[in-house]
Amino acid sequence: MKKKFLLLNGPNLNLLGTRETQIYGTDTLQSIESAVCARAEELGVSVVCKQSNHEGELIDWLHEARDEFDGVILNAGAFTHYSIAIRDAIAAIRLPCVEVHLSNVHKREEFRHHSVLAPVCMGVICGFGSMSYLLALEALAKAE
Ligand code: DQA
Repeated sequence: MKKKFLLLNGPNLNLLGTRETQIYGTDTLQSIESAVCARAEELGVSVVCKQSNHEGELIDWLHEARDEFDGVILNAGAFTHYSIAIRDAIAAIRLPCVEVHLSNVHKREEFRHHSVLAPVCMGVICGFGSMSYLLALEALAKAE
């Protein structure tokens, strides 16, 4: 059966395109989502895209993903660095999850160097701008 992945974006990522463009580039979230969906089609998988600025909503969507999806591509934004609740949700649903960041968080402020999500994710991709999402999709689509 065709694999189905959830692309989840967290807080402030709805502002991509105008938000700190020197760090995040000028691609909008919509253009990133379109590129991921187009690549998914080429790979023979499907992707559903969601974005929320609210931790609880992201957690609800992760829970719902358990029965509906084969994996998750997650840019949790700043929640990456401190949300134990999102970490626990990822661990609970037991779906492969790829943590994604547009920017190279390790080149930035110290508080961005640590991810509380990474230990429960399959892998982490950061620093490649919108390409980070496409790389995550490739990894998930090809994972066993
Ligand atoms: C980000 C990096 C985070 O530190 C930051 O809070 C974001 C975006 C990225 O994609 O580079 O909101 O996840």
